[in-house]
Amino acid sequence: MSAQSYVMARQPASEVLVIGAGVAGLATALAAAPRAVRVLGAGAPGGDGASIWAQGGIAAAVGTGDAPAQHAADTLAAGQWRNDPVAVRHLTECAPDVIDWLERLGVRFDRDGDGALLLGREAAHGCMRIVHARGDATGAEVMRALTRAAARCAHIAVVPQRRAFALARTADGRVVGAWAWSGQAVELWPARAVVLATGGYAALYRHTTNPAGNDGGGIALALAAGAAVADLEFVQFHPTALALPGASGQLPLLTEALRGAGAVLIDGSGQRFMPAEHPLAELAPRDVVARAVAARTLSGHAVFLDARAAVGAAFPEHFPTVFAACMQAGIDPRTQPVPITPAAHYCMGGVRVDADARSSLDGLYAVGEAACTGVHGANRLASNSLLEGLAFGRALGQHLATALPGAAGAALPCPRTYAPLDAATRAALADVLWTHAGLVRDEAGLAHAATRIAAWRATLAPDASAADLLDLAAALIAAMRARRESVGAHWRRDVRAAA
Ligand code: SIN
Repeated sequence: MSAQSYVMARQPASEVLVIGAGVAGLATALAAAPRAVRVLGAGAPGGDGASIWAQGGIAAAVGTGDAPAQHAADTLAAGQWRNDPVAVRHLTECAPDVIDWLERLGVRFDRDGDGALLLGREAAHGCMRIVHARGDATGAEVMRALTRAAARCAHIAVVPQRRAFALARTADGRVVGAWAWSGQAVELWPARAVVLATGGYAALYRHTTNPAGNDGGGIALALAAGAAVADLEFVQFHPTALALPGASGQLPLLTEALRGAGAVLIDGSGQRFMPAEHPLAELAPRDVVARAVAARTLSGHAVFLDARAAVGAAFPEHFPTVFAACMQAGIDPRTQPVPITPAAHYCMGGVRVDADARSSLDGLYAVGEAACTGVHGANRLASNSLLEGLAFGRALGQHLATALPGAAGAALPCPRTYAPLDAATRAALADVLWTHAGLVRDEAGLAHAATRIAAWRATLAPDASAADLLDLAAALIAAMRARRESVGAHWRRDVRAAA
């Protein structure tokens, strides 16, 4: 598609433009009342991004004997103390209130016979702290309630099927909207504040738990406009995605709550291997478990999640999403161990933001996985991601309700031609990242990846939007090369582990 064949359409200005209609974007929009908010979703209404796929739940210190300070301590330990402690304190202190807010919005969390919240356990949590909805369908239930609440709010207009591909800026560099592709036309969506809630870039990898749209597009357009990014090298791999023969792209997740409920990892001979790897065995930090699984897989051994004894007949009721995915693949997890592979799952890094979710560009904000608040450090604690999107999205909405930037100025012409990366290059990039920028890295592999990415980049027109995605991939590789230590999710075989 050439620039000349576009229809260019200017849409009505809004006070706040939120790009991304997952939990972080919708939480921002809901809390920003009475501001006029437009939410651009990339997919169909209610079906955007990774939020609906989240199985694990929401971590919150609501149980007897638990406290936000303990939740904070576990978050810092999982993040290898590379987190921002102020952001961690804020996150963990407002978690119980986030749960209350969601219930007021109509989220139905799982409760016991006496009406108390049912709490689950996941890796690296010191106690039972995870709130779930409909078993392993927490993300879908939260999205159902937020989508319905947004549809009832007069201040919110959700516009589906829009792929933002460039930021609109004034001559003095202020962000005053975004350029999006509607499928037929390039549209300018002007606004006084622009919020990126577009998720992370885990879908750039060959194996991922994320939908294809989570390819870092939002972070890429911020990077292209000169926004500061941080912690890109910290990519979290989930240890237990369902290994489907020959499959690439999004794989079904086998939630960590299964291991929290007692499921174990076994090799082809039926032996458990995690007790020899870490004192917490299957509930060791996620990066430790993922590397142990990857090491066995790479040496040619099949690895399985065995939930027969721990869950067995209760599968359909307690883990309906996992049960359905396994049965669809011809595996009955009540009676059979389930083959697994690690898969890229979550990006701790993103657009660098301050405590008010402000990026380094005037008028641009970021929340959820697209943002780097510093809350996760080198490795995210399980079930802190929905929480982060909700807590920081809600706080940003409240902030914008009272402190909106001044009137938007005139946008310069669109700086990009809408031209997504072709499928062959995208598949080759996924393979290169998986092989050379995956669970374990080294300088030679990263240098090879950088060369391949630069070669693809050189074939593109300088204003093609696809170039931004390759520039994000190049920035990811550069961040991995620059961090010459092994810490948390960033593991290099050619340098020592951090003390
Ligand atoms: C899971 O259910 O295992 C994933 C939870 C998370 O990533 O926080």
